[in-house]
Amino acid sequence: MNIFDFTKKKQAAEKISMITCYDYTSARILAQTSVDCLLVGDSVAMTMHGFKDTLSATLDMMCFHTAAVRRGAGDKFIVSDMPFLSYRKSLSSNVSAAQALMQAGAQAVKLENAAGNLRLIRHLTESGIPVMGHLGLTMQLMHTLGGLKVQGKNQDDAERIRRDALLLQEAGCFSLVLECIPSRLAREVSESLIVPAIGIGAGPHTDGQVLVFQDLLGLNLDFRPRFVKTFMDGSSQFKNGVEEYVQSIKSGGFPSDEHCYGN
Ligand code: KIV
Repeated sequence: MNIFDFTKKKQAAEKISMITCYDYTSARILAQTSVDCLLVGDSVAMTMHGFKDTLSATLDMMCFHTAAVRRGAGDKFIVSDMPFLSYRKSLSSNVSAAQALMQAGAQAVKLENAAGNLRLIRHLTESGIPVMGHLGLTMQLMHTLGGLKVQGKNQDDAERIRRDALLLQEAGCFSLVLECIPSRLAREVSESLIVPAIGIGAGPHTDGQVLVFQDLLGLNLDFRPRFVKTFMDGSSQFKNGVEEYVQSIKSGGFPSDEHCYGN
């Protein structure tokens, strides 16, 4: 994949698949699948570090995980999130943050919302850094949004999301994520854009879907929002594997001859 393939897929009405990834081992496995794109999301702060929201993600954290994913991901296209406030400072500091993510192995960065970011997006895209936009429920704004809730339900909010999507496209975003907005609005936004809109909690009419790795594999014990579909019962399989290991240690079944060195 490269950024032009995103638009080509949209033109061919071929849905884009994206999944979050935060570590080398998972990246190695995902590299053997047909998923189009890996997102080193700032959700890493929650899924891998146990924080309660994404505000705790730092640039160092994002670079560390991006580099690990890059080492395992083969030629998969990697997008890395710019963490909370890392793109809301001086132009030079914002560019340095994006540069660090690209040098850690990303091929594009993602940043949340349009207001106040358009000039930076233009500057980054003109400087060789592709940008993915992100609208709707953007967790980095959770305190100004008054919590984590579906966005774009009233006319004014819906209109702002429609307008922001066009502004992001105009500023140079090669695609954008639409998170937790009504399906009808997501459809209108997707249809208004040349670049693809990738949905999460935004219904079936976007140009692709993204889910968090732990959510779709059933590894997340605490969190099951309505929009998540689990495609396997990962936590049960995980626990069963560990229990089998423990039992075979106790019973003496492991290690057996095949796991032992002779002299
Ligand atoms: O950080 C993340 O996981 C994301 C997805 C919700 C799109 O940004």
